[in-house]
Amino acid sequence: MRPDQTEFVLRDGARIPAVGFGVYKVDDADAERSVATALRSGYRHLDTAEMYRNEAGVGRAIRAAGIARDDLFITTKVWNTNHGREQTMRAFDASLGRLGLDRVDLYLIHWPAAANDRYVETWRALVELQADGRATSVGVSNFQIPHLERIIGETGAVPVVNQVERHPWLPQADLLEFHAAHGIVTEAWSPLGRGRLIDEPALGVIARKHGVSVAQVLVRWNIDAGVVALPKSVTPERIASNIAIAGFELDEDDRAAIATLENGTRTGSHPDQVH
Ligand SMILES: NC(=O)c1ccc[n+]([C@@H]2O[C@H](COP(=O)([O-])OP(=O)(O)OC[C@H]3O[C@@H](n4cnc5c(N)ncnc54)[C@H](OP(=O)(O)O)[C@@H]3O)[C@@H](O)[C@H]2O)c1
Repeated sequence: MRPDQTEFVLRDGARIPAVGFGVYKVDDADAERSVATALRSGYRHLDTAEMYRNEAGVGRAIRAAGIARDDLFITTKVWNTNHGREQTMRAFDASLGRLGLDRVDLYLIHWPAAANDRYVETWRALVELQADGRATSVGVSNFQIPHLERIIGETGAVPVVNQVERHPWLPQADLLEFHAAHGIVTEAWSPLGRGRLIDEPALGVIARKHGVSVAQVLVRWNIDAGVVALPKSVTPERIASNIAIAGFELDEDDRAAIATLENGTRTGSHPDQVH
């Protein structure tokens, strides 16, 4: 199958490739290698963060690939300890320096870290960065509805994206409904449930029916819902196959079977637990 080239349009008019390549828990050298493989495999959207400590490796892979900057979509995120206007500005400059870029396509607040209560001030800083043109788009990650209501209510600026854990165990219907009402695109982190969903029998049945992998079913399921999927792998064959989903469709029976898998299981942290 061919790499998926679906794009979604963000509320600020920017276009975002529907499948992005994740590099969480990948060290700098492995990030350089796996991003190089991903770019060769057709990914044009990369998802990193200052907390991943691999922005430099991601940047080296970008430069070596020789792909036109405007054909790439690069996301990074400000970490919880850098909330606040001045810290965020410094963190942003440091991320750009490590990536070797003069702008990112998307800058996100990694977690609300609500106990620290500085996410509104941090959000204002991101809005400033967008106005300066150094972050083409700005959004958030791991925000729950009350956090979204608060930044929108206090600043009037709506994030274009909220990146959250999402997969069939945790489909996040209430959050997606709120996003739809405000024109916010959902991005799914851990779309494969950190690999744990690969062994889910009902997904195996659907994958065999279509002659695809369970990971391909999971990526397709997100895109069909208008959700950006961010699968991670350091394994070259998996990197290539996770985006090669242009060529099959899930049907109503498949979607109904997937809907029965919801059980609330998180494979990562709950936003209230991260400070
Ligand atoms: N904003 C946030 O707070 C947040 C939190 C978590 C993640 N994220 C983002 O979302 C990305 C993805 O999430 P994730 O890394 O937690 O997990 P994931 O993409 O759901 O799963 C990755 C795991 O699945 C395995 N895998 C990948 N493709 C596979 C395939 N085709 N068949 C079988 N196993 C496969 C990988 O193994 P190998 O690598 O060994 O192949 C790895 O163990 C991250 O890299 C990051 O960019 C964001």
